[in-house]
Amino acid sequence: MASKLRLGVNIDHVATVRNARGGSYPSPLSAALLAQAAGADGITAHLREDRRHISDRDILELMDNISVPLNLELAATDEMREIALRHRPHAVCIVPEKREELTTESGLDVVGHRDRLSQFIEPLRDAGFRISLFVDPTSSQIECAAEIGADIIEIHTGTYCETSVTNRDAGSIELDRIAAAASLAATAGLEVHAGHGLTYATVKPVAALPEIMELNIGHYLISEAIFRGLAASVAEMRRLMVEARAS
Ligand code: PXP
Repeated sequence: MASKLRLGVNIDHVATVRNARGGSYPSPLSAALLAQAAGADGITAHLREDRRHISDRDILELMDNISVPLNLELAATDEMREIALRHRPHAVCIVPEKREELTTESGLDVVGHRDRLSQFIEPLRDAGFRISLFVDPTSSQIECAAEIGADIIEIHTGTYCETSVTNRDAGSIELDRIAAAASLAATAGLEVHAGHGLTYATVKPVAALPEIMELNIGHYLISEAIFRGLAASVAEMRRLMVEARAS
């Protein structure tokens, strides 16, 4: 069980701002290097099929220049698998993707797409990548992830983050689901990560769960960087994570 909880900084929304005006500013690579210097343990980027934020060139630049691991989020398509095999990131996190969604709305249906996902991950596993599946905190999905040979599950914390702001009781029920899911996954031999929607207000209860080894956080950190700068934004998240883990 991990004593140190890793922080993966998702830099997608630096690319969102850049793409709002075209050109190359602000640079996701510069943000990744700043986050790395501020203590990020890894950088996460989601290459979406529609390339709405991160581009193929961003992945190339990140792979060439960062010294912490890159966790590449992608949909289970042939194109994305070919890109992963070409760039060889440290880890691949498979997420569901719908073109019309604003962000990743739910976890993968591993049970429903068991055979397809199993075939999809095989060459990636053979190539030595760490395979992570982004799932809702549901026991059947987690058991199936373990059965098809995933190394990691990343538990979707979006519902917990949304509900805990508006309805504390519902938030607490969601947190219990996440805790049970983390425990089940660790027992099944999976490494446990979590992410989506985490903020300074919601991170501590998740960070306190002892099975969780990594949090991947993006939108809030990049947003908070507008007000306090990226290094301070990352450092404060790290401080809260350390505080939660110590308590
Ligand atoms: N984990 C996964 C699998 C995601 O798809 C995302 C969003 O790209 C995140 C974590 C980070 O979510 P947020 O940007 O809300 O912190």
